[in-house]
Amino acid sequence: MKEPAIRGHWSGRWAFVVATAGSAVGLGNIWKFPYMAGTNGGSAFVLVYLLCVIAIGLPLMMTEIMLGRRAQRNPVDGMAHLSAESHASRLWMGVGYLGIAAGILILSFYSVVAGWVLDYTVRAATNDFAAITATQAQAQFSAMIGNPQELLLWHTIFLFLTMLVVARGVTAGLERANKIMMPTLVTILLILLGYSLAVGEVSRSLAFMFRADFSKITPAAILSAMGHAFFTLSLGMGAVMVYGSYLQRHISIARATFYVVVADTAIALVAGITIFAIGFANQLEPAAGPGLIFQTLPIAFGHMPGGRVFATLFFVLVGFAAWTSSISLVEPAVAWLIERRKLSRARAALIIGGLIWVIGIAVLLSFNVWSEVKLLGFNIFDLLDKLTTNIMLPLGGLLMAIFAVWVMRAAHVKEELGLNERHYRYWRFATRFIAPAAIILVFLNLLGWLPGV
Ligand code: PHE
Repeated sequence: MKEPAIRGHWSGRWAFVVATAGSAVGLGNIWKFPYMAGTNGGSAFVLVYLLCVIAIGLPLMMTEIMLGRRAQRNPVDGMAHLSAESHASRLWMGVGYLGIAAGILILSFYSVVAGWVLDYTVRAATNDFAAITATQAQAQFSAMIGNPQELLLWHTIFLFLTMLVVARGVTAGLERANKIMMPTLVTILLILLGYSLAVGEVSRSLAFMFRADFSKITPAAILSAMGHAFFTLSLGMGAVMVYGSYLQRHISIARATFYVVVADTAIALVAGITIFAIGFANQLEPAAGPGLIFQTLPIAFGHMPGGRVFATLFFVLVGFAAWTSSISLVEPAVAWLIERRKLSRARAALIIGGLIWVIGIAVLLSFNVWSEVKLLGFNIFDLLDKLTTNIMLPLGGLLMAIFAVWVMRAAHVKEELGLNERHYRYWRFATRFIAPAAIILVFLNLLGWLPGV
């Protein structure tokens, strides 16, 4: 197949919104948000996360789209191009490389977890959850992560599926798939929410997630909440930038950003409320860690009428949500190999996919055979997660914000963003001061260089 033009464009605003929402909505919302909230003290984490979404996520997503659309190139060459345009150092290309590395490292564990989702799809379809108890659900999850062959199989399948779409070009199949999958996923989530309203402990869940309890706020929890805001919105690594580079000129960046952020946040909150409500009703620990949804949702499905069908559909859809996110994780790397190294799309996908597959093996072994292997006190999975989510993404975002307001010409930025004066000023203030200050403060706080919290 002749490769589709890399500089293809989305068919319109909705296609861009849906694709960017497809990138944003993924395991981060349904798998990660609930367990991060669960292990970081519930409401403290949720409130800091929401604050970060509004104060940092919104302006930064606009910034990233703006950079991509202005550059019309992959993140590495795009940053080089924009810095040349602004007579600034070519070293800004480093932001692109940082993003490529982050995407590769994230997909290495993302693919393993997406593999769990595929595994659970089969379990759901074969009625494994029927009348399951909490203890059985926990045992089932432990048995799965304890089995490296099983994890390897699903990691391989998931990564293969991802690279297949990437090899064929982002826009064609992806746009269409996204448009059907996302609304269906939302529908099933609402059914689950309805179920948890009926039989779960919703008020306890709401209190856990929203009743402010700042005693639980630690520097590490703040960092995780901020990191998660980046992770869930796909920010700081060039995914949104590369999608923005396929966006036509006349489309409003602000409006598209608004839709994506609202959809992403709403889905995470609904998932969180549902999962804690079911968990509390079954005496499960919110702090169960990465296995949380795999230990709670089967209980709900296993006891509701039509549970087998809903469960299967649910895991298929979460798999799709993960799929549309994972594609955006490698798109910066692949676009760069094609545009810079002149590789074909297929070959670029093969190289990047191979690299991720190998790192992914180390990740899946860290749940069993290598569970005792620790670097800096973390196992391989935790290390990659923390390094990318808490350090690389916020750092990438910080550099992009600095670049957009301190390096680029204001006139260029203004033209690209197309905002009215009032909104432009708000964006500029947030990007110039609020977002960088917040990111720097959180970093300093983590290093213990700030008094207090
Ligand atoms: N936002 C995705 C999710 O929540 C993950 C992701 C992170 C995708 C960074 C692209 C870039 O699942």
